Amino acid sequence: MIGEGERRGGSSQVEDKRMTFLLGERLIVGLYRLIQATRIHHDNNQVVVEALGRCTAALDALLGGGEVPVQVWRDRLYVCGERLPFRKDVAGVMTDLVEFMNARSLGGIVFSRVAGEDLAGCLLAFVRLLNTAHGHQDPVGWLEDALREKGISCIEVREIQDEEAGTPERNVRKRAVDMYFNALKVVKGVASKMDRGVAGVRKARRVAQEVVDLINEDPSIMLALATIRNYDDYTYMHSVNVAILAVSLGRYVGLSRVSLEHLAVCGLFHDLGKIEIPKGILKKQGALDKDELDTMRAHPLLGVKKIIRLNAPRVLRSRIILGPFEHHLNPDMTGYPRTHFMKGVSVMGKILKIVDVYDALTSERVYRKRAFTPEEALRKMWAQAGKSFDPILLKCFVSMMGIYPVGSVVELRGGALGIVSMYSPGALRDRPVVMVLEHDGSGGYVCAGEIDLAKEPLEDGDAGQAIARGIPAPMLGINPSAFLLPGLSPA
Ligand SMILES: [Fe+2]
Ligand SMILES: [Fe+2]
Repeated sequence: MIGEGERRGGSSQVEDKRMTFLLGERLIVGLYRLIQATRIHHDNNQVVVEALGRCTAALDALLGGGEVPVQVWRDRLYVCGERLPFRKDVAGVMTDLVEFMNARSLGGIVFSRVAGEDLAGCLLAFVRLLNTAHGHQDPVGWLEDALREKGISCIEVREIQDEEAGTPERNVRKRAVDMYFNALKVVKGVASKMDRGVAGVRKARRVAQEVVDLINEDPSIMLALATIRNYDDYTYMHSVNVAILAVSLGRYVGLSRVSLEHLAVCGLFHDLGKIEIPKGILKKQGALDKDELDTMRAHPLLGVKKIIRLNAPRVLRSRIILGPFEHHLNPDMTGYPRTHFMKGVSVMGKILKIVDVYDALTSERVYRKRAFTPEEALRKMWAQAGKSFDPILLKCFVSMMGIYPVGSVVELRGGALGIVSMYSPGALRDRPVVMVLEHDGSGGYVCAGEIDLAKEPLEDGDAGQAIARGIPAPMLGINPSAFLLPGLSPA
């Protein structure tokens, strides 16, 4: 649930983990003492100074590896994604801190280094805010506002995570569907607020946290969600799909949880600039002329201008600008927008580029007869490896998606039709689980069971079942997401 530990340099993973436990424990104890001390003492009191020193020393050491998230989940404490063991002599402090955070609906605190901000001073101000936060109706929202007012960007707060995690698959599925429709609402809300003035990012960040949680819990359901297509709502669904696919690929290549959350926000906002592009250009059936093309190609820069104006902590804005700016740039810096200031595209930009093109190719668009099937899209993209896409990340993407990605409509040997629903752990990339379809007698199809091709014999011939070919879903009037996520509708 909390995800992989932060990747950091060091002699070995075991040693890294041991250091995280040690420093994490020091940080927790220091933080707890600081909370207690600031309730009764002034800033210059010796007890406050000592607790603050202990806290900042631990944070300084941990920050060598990037951001430091302190999270509470199911009454346990996690530092940098590692669950701290309940050692006897600190168990009381940990339990009290968990209670303290629960009472404020506080699921996490993320520390980072920001140029020009004094970590110790910010920490002291933050702890004083924490002590008064519980009197407010929405303590986390109040804390976010208070931190912003004080100009503190190096400390961010998160709401408590959903306790439903770990429930049966049906609930994960329901949460995933609810998240999807909520994400759509949030992206639309930000776009329309930006049109009228300033929009905030709190809701988008919560969606981002949920996307990461759900992908950690069940990547297949999330890949099934990303097959949802609605022609009329293309731009917003595309943004949500890009967020889901980007986080899936980011997780596959081992990005940290914090980076994945930023990547999700980048995905949600990557085409924000398109709200300024005239509909006539966005929905033009024929080829765009030069002026129209220039207008269209301005959208990454227009998006960046919107992100700069978002009502969000400076540190967050700085982390979600680059990906949207770069999502149409090629590895050799060709593409758009043209820039001479950068030497290369960031990992987030490269990931966004891959998943953005994949989602666009597999969606129906006015300017072509039909959408590419998932495997056609992957093949088309593979031909551009190294030119349009980072070859290593594209290889990872193809490997993650499989030869027939979740949502592909396929014909099995023998002629049966099916939809790829998931890949069992360790399955070969052409041996997914397939939901077999049968005619329902009135022109449609019904699910007639599932077959896990990974369990079929590998030899050719009649001995084992296998995929013969992929078929474009619209040709058969099949909407894969309706089968993969039955009863698809928000709560
Ligand atoms: Fe774009
Ligand atoms: Fe896009």
